[in-house]
Amino acid sequence: MSQKLVDYENLKKLNQPFFAEFQQSLKESVESGWYILGNRVKGFEDDFSTYNKSKFTIGVASGLDALILGLEVLGLPKGSEVLVPSNTYIATILAIVRVGLKPVLIEPIEQEYNLDPFEIRKRITSSTTAIVVVHLYGKLCRMNEIIAIAKEHELKIIEDCAQSHGSSYQGKKAGTFGDIGAFSFYPTKNLGALGDAGAITTDSDELADKLFYFRNYGSKTKYYNKYIGYNSRLDELQAGILRVKLKYLDAMNQHKNELAGMYLSKLDASRYILPVVQQDYFDTFHIFPIRHPRRDALREYLLTNGIKTEIHYPVPPHQQEGYKDLFPGQSYPISEKIHHSVLSLPISYATSKEDVEYVIQILNSFED
Ligand SMILES: Cc1ncc(COP(=O)(O)O)c(C=O)c1O
Repeated sequence: MSQKLVDYENLKKLNQPFFAEFQQSLKESVESGWYILGNRVKGFEDDFSTYNKSKFTIGVASGLDALILGLEVLGLPKGSEVLVPSNTYIATILAIVRVGLKPVLIEPIEQEYNLDPFEIRKRITSSTTAIVVVHLYGKLCRMNEIIAIAKEHELKIIEDCAQSHGSSYQGKKAGTFGDIGAFSFYPTKNLGALGDAGAITTDSDELADKLFYFRNYGSKTKYYNKYIGYNSRLDELQAGILRVKLKYLDAMNQHKNELAGMYLSKLDASRYILPVVQQDYFDTFHIFPIRHPRRDALREYLLTNGIKTEIHYPVPPHQQEGYKDLFPGQSYPISEKIHHSVLSLPISYATSKEDVEYVIQILNSFED
């Protein structure tokens, strides 16, 4: 009998149910003759605002650009300090550096993988101007506590929502708590395009107005440039694809939630550290992280049994070659511990319940 194979992700399979609708949308785009900032971008922005209950959505070229433009329009003093998790994807930190601000790394709560409000308080100085929260793996940060700290110290909040489309806390969606929400629609995201794409959410008329300028060369009227802007426009073709998939985002998140429920109830919790699920949080499990002290051996064992996994992430930002000089002599033990032991299990919309049953069975028979 041939061995069962479980992909970590299979984008063709994931997108297959939408192919007919994609083709219709792409056909309409091609035939419209309008290829930049047209009806599909506007339509997606409106749909995404309605979905999140945010006043504005501004489509941009990527998640990184959403963070860069979002930080830029806040007009924070150059060189001021921005608090950011020590265990995030590099884009969050890169965006801070790119706009001339100073990233200050904050350790997470180990079990939650998200920013520790207690640590935030400890690192605030007279130069701190903002907090970039990252709702990592699809779980929201402790936003009530973080908002209280930000108010107390007059700090701006930017939410990195690249991994949390549709996630909520007390019924309120990611991207609607802070001044700015930054989304990535990279193909593997819970809401993924067929290429690079991103968006910013905000309730501020002033910030939205600036962002509509900034993403388009600082211009709203052709050849008149009010600001020194960027070329970072959400593409019409991608916007059409995203409009199709947004209709199914809740169903896709529901599927991932059901798979997570299986892992949570059936994996041997005495051997693996499993994600915590808390009341009032709707987690969308962009990633299902488990931890084990012999992570690399476990990964190899899964692979020999036909199961592909990923590591999010193998090297923490402060130890990345290009970034080391930004954090000289600094250590982040919680973050380092997570990076050395974390393993992401298959939990795609394209992963079946049968696949997950198999992964559980193999994991529970690992001889550690
Ligand atoms: C937490 C986080 N922030 C930002 C990004 C950047 O998004 P993009 O790849 O669309 O630039 C990603 C994903 O790639 C991410 O996971």
